[in-house]
Amino acid sequence: MNRLYGHLLLLNGILLLTLLYSSCASRRAPGPPAAFRVEPTPALLTRGAALVSMMCSDCHRDPVTGVLSGKRLTDVPKMLGKVYSANITRHQALGIGAYTEGQLAYLLRTGVDRHGRTLPMMQKPGLSDDDLRAVIAFLKHSDDPMVRPAAVASVPSRYSLPARLAMPLVAKPLPYPAGPVQPDTGAVVQGKYLVNVLGCYECHSGSVLKLDRLAPEQSKGYLAGGGKLVTLEGEPVRTPNLTMDAGTGLGRWSRTQFVAALRESLRPDHSVIRYPMPTYAQLSEAEAGAIYAYLQTVPPVRNRVKRRPSAPAVPARPEDTLATGGRLYAFYGCRSCHGATGLGIADLRPAHRKYSDDASLQARIKNPAAFRPNSRMPKFEGVIAEKDYAPLLAYVRWLGKKGTF
Ligand code: HEC
Ligand code: HEC
Ligand code: HEC
Repeated sequence: MNRLYGHLLLLNGILLLTLLYSSCASRRAPGPPAAFRVEPTPALLTRGAALVSMMCSDCHRDPVTGVLSGKRLTDVPKMLGKVYSANITRHQALGIGAYTEGQLAYLLRTGVDRHGRTLPMMQKPGLSDDDLRAVIAFLKHSDDPMVRPAAVASVPSRYSLPARLAMPLVAKPLPYPAGPVQPDTGAVVQGKYLVNVLGCYECHSGSVLKLDRLAPEQSKGYLAGGGKLVTLEGEPVRTPNLTMDAGTGLGRWSRTQFVAALRESLRPDHSVIRYPMPTYAQLSEAEAGAIYAYLQTVPPVRNRVKRRPSAPAVPARPEDTLATGGRLYAFYGCRSCHGATGLGIADLRPAHRKYSDDASLQARIKNPAAFRPNSRMPKFEGVIAEKDYAPLLAYVRWLGKKGTF
């Protein structure tokens, strides 16, 4: 009798799991593609390029080619499984060539893709209609190398069973807005808008799982930091408090310091603000200032978040140049963006050939914007001590040679 009961329980359990599993494996029917037309004007394409760089490229850009052809995302919790972003270049079969403009609008509003899958990372309900058009204009019509058709097949993500079970609970499709989405004007309102669409609040609130995408301010611990993220190397990191609390937040930061921090990824004390914080090089001074103005209006919250420690600058044996270089590479935050191998979100390994002498390689690191407009790398001039360059450059060259570049 007992055994029969046990078997029944087991059977029940299996049935329940199967039911749960099949309910989330069953895909939602895609919504009707919204009637959404885009007239690609030069202004729209420029705005779209900036928005896509700031909002999409960290996840979709292949660090080797610089093209939005997708990659493995290593900065997601391991328990989710293996997550790959997709090829979103215009390639007809392998990219998003087959998406209509309406289907892209529908995906970015509701999170539901053309096949009916819900992709929560793509929900941008607050994006204004103009900015939505700019993003889509850039993806569908720009000649920028980032989105030129790339014949690269997307790798399907392999989510773990727990992730697939949890997905329907956290990844709910959002309604397609009934009317126009238009933010009001004025610095504070514009700042609030940018905090929403650039996703500052997604990372800088209490929990990435307790976000309210339709009413961001209702998110748990809105902007008070503590959200748990993962570095490129899979180490956990908690986000800082962005409210103006003087002791634990940004209360002591001036507007100028804040603007520089966002656009150059450097704190007032010259330490590097490390990845996964994006570098907002394309943000104008006025836009970054608007975010500052808005943060002034958010109620300050006392929340001390433990900082990610910075690596020690000098190794035990300073006479070992490579070991010293490796330490400095971590100390100056190079490692957070370029990873342990030099690849990371951008590949520095070919640099050792491109900049054949140390003076030019040093110049590239000191002032990246001189080599590439809107560079997303901090300007290290005045940040890296002169004596540190020799071991650091040796290390960068060693990474390139090790990667046989
Ligand atoms: C946090 C990382 C992340 C960000 C940021 C992100 N994406 Fe994605 N995107 C993904 C992942 C991962 C997938 C694949 C989904 C999967 O396999 O579960 C994807 C899929 C897509 C798809 C579907 C492709 C297809 O073949 O159906 C489109 C379109 C897309 N993203 C566009 C964008 C755009 C546009 C932006 C910026 C506004 C963006 N994404 C920002 C991670 C991201
Ligand atoms: C993908 C997640 C992510 C997004 C999006 C993001 N941040 Fe961050 N941010 C971080 C992380 C992680 C850190 C900590 C970096 C470190 O460890 O050096 C950080 C650090 C900062 C800092 C430095 C604060 C301090 O006390 O050191 C500021 C300022 C900041 N972010 C502002 C913003 C603003 C404003 C936005 C939106 C425009 C934004 N962040 C978007 C993850 C993010
Ligand atoms: C916040 C992220 C970030 C940090 C920190 C960072 N980089 Fe970069 N780096 C980039 C990006 C993105 C590129 C790609 C081109 C660009 O935007 O400038 C790049 C490009 C480079 C290049 C040129 C590669 C080429 O092929 O031309 C070199 C060299 C380089 N980085 C070295 C370094 C070193 C050394 C450090 C540390 C002192 C460092 N980077 C820190 C993001 C970063």
